[in-house]
Amino acid sequence: MVFMANVDNVDNNDDDHDGVGNGNGSMKTQLPTDINMLLHVSTLCSVRNISREIPAITMNNGCKMPIIGLGTWGATDDFVEIENLGLGERKEKGIEPNEMVEITKKAIDCGYRHFDTALMHGNEKQIGDAIQQKIKDDTVTRDELFICTKLWHTYADPDRVILGCERSLKNLGLDYIDLYLIHSPLAAQANDDSLYPTTKDGKPAYADVDYVCTWRAMEDLLKEGLCKSIGISNFNLKQIDRILEYGTIVPQNLQIEHHPYLTQTALLGYCRAHNIAVTAYAPLGSPNRPWAFKDTPKALLNDRKVLAIAKKHDKSPAQILIRYQIEKGLATIPNAGRSETFLCENINVFDFCLRPEDMVALHGLNANRRYFKFTGATGHSHHPFETT
Ligand SMILES: NC(=O)c1ccc[n+]([C@@H]2O[C@H](COP(=O)([O-])OP(=O)(O)OC[C@H]3O[C@@H](n4cnc5c(N)ncnc54)[C@H](OP(=O)(O)O)[C@@H]3O)[C@@H](O)[C@H]2O)c1
Repeated sequence: MVFMANVDNVDNNDDDHDGVGNGNGSMKTQLPTDINMLLHVSTLCSVRNISREIPAITMNNGCKMPIIGLGTWGATDDFVEIENLGLGERKEKGIEPNEMVEITKKAIDCGYRHFDTALMHGNEKQIGDAIQQKIKDDTVTRDELFICTKLWHTYADPDRVILGCERSLKNLGLDYIDLYLIHSPLAAQANDDSLYPTTKDGKPAYADVDYVCTWRAMEDLLKEGLCKSIGISNFNLKQIDRILEYGTIVPQNLQIEHHPYLTQTALLGYCRAHNIAVTAYAPLGSPNRPWAFKDTPKALLNDRKVLAIAKKHDKSPAQILIRYQIEKGLATIPNAGRSETFLCENINVFDFCLRPEDMVALHGLNANRRYFKFTGATGHSHHPFETT
């Protein structure tokens, strides 16, 4: 049993891969307490990418999720406007939805089987088209793919949850979604035309919907077979606690921002205790986020400690950051942008493992630095990062 969820395709022999000691207990005693809770290095050191198959996490309902998926967020202009709050101009244009057809097809050819999208990404249709083409040319079957998408704020009203789900299914051209998440606990007024409805005076049009009611409607989707698994994203610990108290199904998955600058120890401990599998978004520190110009965009990828560990293992900084998630038993969904090189590099992380001292060093970078703050929803009564 590994941290938080089972990881399949794990060879449990006691090989001392890459010279890392295999005495899990003795390694743990040398580590600080919080990281002790997170490490399962000796188990995952045995993961090997035999025949290009990606190891899978088994969620609490028995469904399997490939541990690496492709992030597909391209930052649509309306979102940027809301999140930027006038910080300035974007550096360059994000990935357009139509670019996602070729990117998705290349990713499937590279070995990706897990795709992370959302109604809000505006690219479900293109990802769906690519999937249909790849099923048609016999590269993959539907069963081999794991598609995650998300219910947007304008569908948070319990009566509209099924409409949001049906809209995503239609966009994707699928008859079920492998993992359907509530995108965040925030609710906006019902709207089928705009993702960001506003009031007459131009302010965000919030809706007074309790996310617990949204969750109960998500449970119905599961019962009706429209999704295989359901979960939540961007919820804080207290909000998840309410879901567990008033819901009837424990979420199968929580998707959160997570990387060495934001290690979320309490939240991960909570999820482990309740057998909720976690997916880490922005694993590379989201250098593609359009509001990065105010910051150092590649701060995490260029971090001195990350670079040193990469050099030691003869791997790229991105591979170290992705492997960091895997060592912690988290699924992760790095975005490769337009680069075929990054696409292949980011999934090619199963021929090495990080040493306990690497994990301690990476964990020590924590600065509670959150890149996705949902500043556009400041003042919302269910804002996950203002109310804790
Ligand atoms: N649930 C949510 O609310 C939520 C929020 C955010 C993200 N997500 C999901 O998580 C995914 C990943 O997060 P993200 O896209 O924000 O950021 P990320 O995966 O941390 O970073 C992706 C960017 O890193 C750069 N990159 C990728 N591979 C690289 C490599 N091997 N070497 C050097 N640079 C590399 C590319 O930047 P360039 O394109 O500039 O080269 C790429 O666009 C998203 O795409 C989305 O699916 C979900």
